[in-house]
Amino acid sequence: MSDVERTEFTLPPGMTAGGTGVTASTTGDSKVTQRNEDVDGQALEGEQDFDRSLRPKSIEEFIGQPKVREQLSLVLTGAKNRGVTPDHVLLSGPPGLGKTTMAMIVAQELGASLRMTSGPALERAGDLAAMLSNLMEGDVLFIDEIHRIARPAEEMLYMAMEDFRIDVIVGKGPGATSIPLEIPPFTLVGATTRAGMLTGPLRDRFGFTAQMEFYDTEDLTRVITRAARILGVEIDPDAAVEIGSRSRGTPRIANRLLRRVRDFAEVHGDGHIDLAAARGALDVFDVDHMGLDRLDRAVLSALVKGHGGGPVGVGTLAVAVGEESATVEEVCEPYLVRAGMIARTGRGRVATAVAWEHLGLQAPEGTIGATLF
Ligand SMILES: Nc1ncnc2c1ncn2[C@@H]1O[C@H](COP(=O)(O)OP(=O)(O)OP(=O)(O)O)[C@@H](O)[C@H]1O
Ligand SMILES: [Mg+2]
Repeated sequence: MSDVERTEFTLPPGMTAGGTGVTASTTGDSKVTQRNEDVDGQALEGEQDFDRSLRPKSIEEFIGQPKVREQLSLVLTGAKNRGVTPDHVLLSGPPGLGKTTMAMIVAQELGASLRMTSGPALERAGDLAAMLSNLMEGDVLFIDEIHRIARPAEEMLYMAMEDFRIDVIVGKGPGATSIPLEIPPFTLVGATTRAGMLTGPLRDRFGFTAQMEFYDTEDLTRVITRAARILGVEIDPDAAVEIGSRSRGTPRIANRLLRRVRDFAEVHGDGHIDLAAARGALDVFDVDHMGLDRLDRAVLSALVKGHGGGPVGVGTLAVAVGEESATVEEVCEPYLVRAGMIARTGRGRVATAVAWEHLGLQAPEGTIGATLF
């Protein structure tokens, strides 16, 4: 025991931070390019405020995802009625569909504090131990990009989720001792764009998993109308539908496009958004009628023109468009698959007839989805 000199993590100062609302926030740098950068370069500080002000604050206010809303509402109400902390919640789905928003809503609905961190920020078990030992009873701990959590931290998380207890290793080498530490009951909300990358044991410890789906045009139109109202922007109903239908099924993109269209309407008119302004702006920003942007089209073009429609590995496509594989896989592909343009096969990605046609080309015979004569 003599060489117990160094603790693997710094114990929190005597007084733990309580209070309400969002407290700690550590976000790891993501390898995945945020799609907003495709549209407007680096997000500006003010634009992030804009995002924040548009986040719905309650399940009621949250647009779309009827299944997730209903199920989550039951989970939360049930727990509240029984006076216990709800099961841990896993939110999965492509970027920008409202996972972080939903995590905040969970805390809000429970009247609990929200603590935020992310998988990449939890590199060592000690990082997680510090976070966990700071929790107060009933807190909601949000771990974004939970699939990127480091192995030792993940193993510690298993125990914390199941038994509300962790073993803290104090010291190094043969003298190292493990000290059990009780954690107050908390609710973990994990978010991931890659549910498939979660290990089985981690996935099994979530009592409720919500799969967020792409939004339909009707819901996106509501997202836009609501955002316009909050921002005090006048928008015609048909213009809102136009932007909604070109938002790749994603509320974050809908809000972003609304902002670009607002700029356009202010520069070219009096700021009122009509259909012509919406179309004009979306053309300027290279958003095509299906909502695909430059990166989406580059991927399709690499697949169709560069590789004869595939099959081709995602790594090859990523190199062709100069992006990380993870970006192509997590940001572009889900929508292209859902739009019926790309099929994932055992041998790689394959372009469907819809993709060929979208690029103005005739699909060769035998292409998936081609009309048979
Ligand atoms: N259901 C919704 N209704 C209205 N606005 C929404 C909804 N879902 C998301 N938004 C808006 O979209 C933006 C992006 O949502 P959010 O940050 O929750 O996505 P995310 O799934 O966490 O994305 P990522 O995977 O990139 O972290 C939010 O700022 C919010 O304003
Ligand atoms: Mg998020």
